[in-house]
Amino acid sequence: MKTVLITGANRGLGLEVAHQLGAKGFHVLAGIRNAEAGRRAEALLRGAGIRADYVPLDMAAPDMIAAAADMIAGMAGGLDVLINNAAVHYDTHQRVGAPDFAIVEEALAINTVGAWRMTVAALPHLLRSEAPRIVNVSSESGAWSSMTGTTPAYSLSKIGLNALTRMMASEFRGDGILVNAVCPGWTATDMGGGGRPVPEGARGIVWAATLPDDGPTGGFFRDGKPIDW
Ligand SMILES: NC(=O)c1ccc[n+]([C@@H]2O[C@H](COP(=O)([O-])OP(=O)(O)OC[C@H]3O[C@@H](n4cnc5c(N)ncnc54)[C@H](OP(=O)(O)O)[C@@H]3O)[C@@H](O)[C@H]2O)c1
Repeated sequence: MKTVLITGANRGLGLEVAHQLGAKGFHVLAGIRNAEAGRRAEALLRGAGIRADYVPLDMAAPDMIAAAADMIAGMAGGLDVLINNAAVHYDTHQRVGAPDFAIVEEALAINTVGAWRMTVAALPHLLRSEAPRIVNVSSESGAWSSMTGTTPAYSLSKIGLNALTRMMASEFRGDGILVNAVCPGWTATDMGGGGRPVPEGARGIVWAATLPDDGPTGGFFRDGKPIDW
């Protein structure tokens, strides 16, 4: 049985990816920062017949990231897939000329450095897998080719995540770890506030999580198709 750790798995795309990968037979480790939400998501997934465990995980708390990795260390098969999904601050109210830097710093801490830190902590356990995959859930807002002054905190955090995707793919290629960035498209979660149905947005993330060994690495995808950086 393969194991996946999904950050921010209590709602939105993270919870839906947990459902979709659970239905494919994955053991789901649901990384969730709020204990009550964690227990609720665990019960929901188990109720759907999925092997799921809630993992206390705040992406802004390095000690919790380390503790989550320690928990995986005790598991027989290691970790097959890491999905860096948790994110905050889609700051449509801000412009680059007048940002609230507290928001900028928090977006970078959670969306970018948190994902980086999580990946480093999970790395020894991914290396125990026969088919390790890392999916960085990104956004077209973080595409260099279409960058504007809107959503500055979020966009900066996602272009940073995209850069990390390239760095990680290059660095981990020799270890057989496939690392890709996925934009789910505009999706009707709390963050999206509208858009396409959540199961549709989640599908491209699941695709990247279940790539065959000869699948791509270091790419930026939506719905399984390359998009511009
Ligand atoms: N929806 C879209 O249109 C869209 C488009 C492009 C990209 N994306 C990306 O897709 C991913 C999922 O977004 P979503 O639309 O599902 O958003 P969402 O509904 O707002 O869910 C965000 C998730 O991240 C969690 N989270 C936030 N900060 C966290 C922290 N410090 N530690 C742990 N978990 C934390 C939230 O947990 P709490 O419940 O505790 O807050 C929640 O589970 C994000 O990376 C987002 O940038 C979304």
